[in-house]
Amino acid sequence: MTLSRFDFPEGFLFGAATAAYQIEGSGFGGAGSCHWDTFSATPGNVKNAESGARACDHYHQWPADLDLLQKAQMDAYRFSTNWARVMPDGRTVSPEGMDYYDRLVDGMLERGLKPFQTLYHWDLPSALADIGGWMNREIPLRFADYAEAITRKLGDRVETIATINEPWCVAWLSHFFGAHAPGLRDIRATARAMHHVLLAHGLGVERLRGMGKKNLGIVLNFDYAEPASQSPADLRAADVNDGIFNRWFIEAITQKTYPQIVLEGLGPHMPEGWEKDMAVIGQKIDFLGVNYYTRHIHAAAPGTPWPSTTGVEGSLPKTQMGWEIYPDGLHHFLTRMAKDYVGDMPLYVTENGMANADSVNAGEVSDDIRTDFLFAHLAATKRAIADGANVRGFFYWSLLDNYEWAEGYEKRFGLVHVDYETQVRTPKASYKAYARALARNT
Ligand code: NOJ
Repeated sequence: MTLSRFDFPEGFLFGAATAAYQIEGSGFGGAGSCHWDTFSATPGNVKNAESGARACDHYHQWPADLDLLQKAQMDAYRFSTNWARVMPDGRTVSPEGMDYYDRLVDGMLERGLKPFQTLYHWDLPSALADIGGWMNREIPLRFADYAEAITRKLGDRVETIATINEPWCVAWLSHFFGAHAPGLRDIRATARAMHHVLLAHGLGVERLRGMGKKNLGIVLNFDYAEPASQSPADLRAADVNDGIFNRWFIEAITQKTYPQIVLEGLGPHMPEGWEKDMAVIGQKIDFLGVNYYTRHIHAAAPGTPWPSTTGVEGSLPKTQMGWEIYPDGLHHFLTRMAKDYVGDMPLYVTENGMANADSVNAGEVSDDIRTDFLFAHLAATKRAIADGANVRGFFYWSLLDNYEWAEGYEKRFGLVHVDYETQVRTPKASYKAYARALARNT
């Protein structure tokens, strides 16, 4: 399948995405410790106990990395600012951290790239983790201060600001499954994190709105919830997982409510008076970022605690992460967001991509499977636009191979291969295919 930028509406933005902790190197430039530095230093949490201390050395190599975006004729770049770099103790601004992001954003503009900023892509300063992290209602207040400080520096030049990246991962994956920092498995901690991460979003938007800022939004992740069978029990299993993953956050933001099917489990563990926060959580936003990767199949698990469900292996081709390749899911969520939640509000595909066990052979990386993945998901996006979703851009995850959290460096999502010993970058075949699709002179 071939598609080009001319198959999309005029002004549609193509880009790639990264996140600070995954590429910069948290050991450079005076960044404070964040909870991923300590989570990864604890045996058993991360493959090979790898951390983001050096990562892709992007802190030093950012000019060449931005050149890669420009050479592919990308229009925009989605990046994040590390809270622990901007405020090493979670509260006090570091001029060194601020200046780094100042240079980075200027570097994007010099290359004609629109900066799409994310404020929180999981680098919670350790000093704030010490007081309970997302379980503590104080964290949303500190987040609003951080949002204001970094926006005073960058807010005149960034195109859009997303408050939180993937609140499901911040809350559920990290406090219920224990797979990400802080690695808790506790339903009370989960309920608090599920609410406080949204309160941080709301207080952040309120603060930035007060500064006169526009183009404010959030980035949510969606995962197609397929029932294992049509039995009522399995249908309910898919429904409760759809509620936790796909409805909790968007319904809070657009309807100022949480889905009843999820409150059945989390309700008793919610922080007291949470209902009073729903007005600030549900205030107007300007765009919604949609991250989409895969689907999961859910079955009932009678006799186990709420949510009483279990996963079932799927039969579709899988990526290096073991995730099924299911482009129809992207069309589903883009059209569902437009129809059920946000109407005509601009949507961006803020992440979509796949991991593959890539290697460099004679200077080339053959990853045709990624090229196929990319074009299948671009085609799904185009169909969603035809079906009425106001999608304004698409960001491939990721520009570079990088630190895949609990998976360490083994899983490679990049359009560009990174040799972590030498830090040499090698554009893959998929990068070249994307660049051909984006070329303006064809
Ligand atoms: C979502 C996250 O935002 C990003 O940090 C992660 O690397 C990708 N998905 C792939 O798992």
